[in-house]
Amino acid sequence: MNVKDLTKGAAVSVTDSRVVEQASVDSKLESPRSARRLVVISNRAPIEVIGEGASQVTRRTVGGVANTFVRLLENNGGLWIAWSGGHVAKRLTMPSQNAHLTVLLLGLADREVTHYYHGLCNRALWPLMHLMPQRCHFDGLDWTYYQRVNSSFAHLVAAETVLQDTVWVQDYHLALVPSMVRQMRPGSTIGLFWHVPFPPEPIFRIFPWRAELLRGMLGADLIGFHTRSYTEEFLTACERLLRLKVDHESGVISVNDRRVRVRAFPLGIAAQDFAELAACERVCQRILEIHRAVGTPRIILGVDRLDYTKGIPERLRAFEQFLERNSEYRGRVTMIQIAVPSRERVPAYEQLRSRVEELVGRIVGTFSTDGWVPLRYLHTRLDPEHLIAYYRAAEMALLTPLRDGMNLVAKEFVASRVDDDGVLVLSEFAGAAEELTEAVLVNPYDVEALALKLKQALEIPAAQRAAMMRAMRAKINQNTLDRWGDAFVAELNQSACRAE
Ligand code: UDP
Ligand code: G6P
Repeated sequence: MNVKDLTKGAAVSVTDSRVVEQASVDSKLESPRSARRLVVISNRAPIEVIGEGASQVTRRTVGGVANTFVRLLENNGGLWIAWSGGHVAKRLTMPSQNAHLTVLLLGLADREVTHYYHGLCNRALWPLMHLMPQRCHFDGLDWTYYQRVNSSFAHLVAAETVLQDTVWVQDYHLALVPSMVRQMRPGSTIGLFWHVPFPPEPIFRIFPWRAELLRGMLGADLIGFHTRSYTEEFLTACERLLRLKVDHESGVISVNDRRVRVRAFPLGIAAQDFAELAACERVCQRILEIHRAVGTPRIILGVDRLDYTKGIPERLRAFEQFLERNSEYRGRVTMIQIAVPSRERVPAYEQLRSRVEELVGRIVGTFSTDGWVPLRYLHTRLDPEHLIAYYRAAEMALLTPLRDGMNLVAKEFVASRVDDDGVLVLSEFAGAAEELTEAVLVNPYDVEALALKLKQALEIPAAQRAAMMRAMRAKINQNTLDRWGDAFVAELNQSACRAE
């Protein structure tokens, strides 16, 4: 695989109206190529189609999974099956660089969205996977709809693929799809990548449908996680809850006559694309504009979906304490928080928004002076070019999730620092912290310590900053998105061959 130009990513193509609508979802795809075609199945597509008739709008979505596969499939071609984000079902052909990419969008009814997406996915599995059981809400009807929607995806996969295809299911929304597809089509090559953390067994055990969920996942030939620790937690859960034979050393689980391989594949990014875009003239121009608008040369940057797992209130409180205790920095440093609207129909997200706005108001109200606003809050989604300009304009990225599968923003910040400058302050509870050990690692729950670390990080000498950044850039350039995709697919195809 070779992902070439981020700016020409399919998400951008879509907003450029370079999408060709082909037919309704009822018609069949042209017959798949005989070589192994890659078929990706995820809940989220790179675009969403909202509204009906004349008011129908297509817009780009934001999130790690969509961004990852838009770049992989854009160049590699294949089939991507995902939810349209609304009721509409569509088949789209995107102009890809080397190959033909078809995106098949599944429409969901309101009740399905409510119970499957907002319910089981976002109010049960999401908090459970992020070690927040007190936020979990379990409801039998949500589970029924989760099974139903997983079954719709599985039927679509069975109808649209042939045995020779490589089927790659993504994330916690579709955990039952691997076993459902295997039942409908034994002999299929099926992979599953889990983009979120996997919790320790005593927490996972809380989930009322724990055995069904694990069995659903175990329909895959290969299951990937971002880190070794998530992999180990999953193996332990299968051992204790399903009493399966597990070889922790080789990561193999024996399921009847099948052997399921479980391994860590830390997700990489298209580092070269970020570096190229970061150095381009337009981005350099934007960096100047950002500095001009902010008014201070020193910028601390936060970028997240507005999600309670991202530790935004803790980060804002730490910034507030930092300003309280270090008056010499007032008027000299500005924080910019980009918060992408997310899952707004889930009550916990609405509450988070109010809490964050309250904190922003308090900090701005307390510390602003005539010529300085300490905190800029952008409740919006930015395109890659704008985002990279912020990555480059900032002296520090302050990324403090309470728990995060990987945190691609951390890697993107590093990849964009072609000047070998900038400090990454990163939560030790983000998957990326396992690789980016040269970052300033922090415990986001300890707000006082975070405020102290913030000051220390601002005072790291330039030579040390450059050495830390160079070391991280070397890692990001090594484990790229292409290599990640190639490694997973190669191992998946091998596991399938071994099983034959
Ligand atoms: N992102 C974006 N626009 C924004 C903010 C973020 O396109 O305004 C992208 C960012 O480039 C990254 C993804 O959203 O690729 C977020 O991925 P991450 O793994 O950090 O978190 P997730 O949202 O998947 O939990
Ligand atoms: C996380 C999940 C993804 C999801 C993304 C955005 O990264 O692992 O599967 O797509 O968040 O969330 P959303 O609910 O908008 O798809």
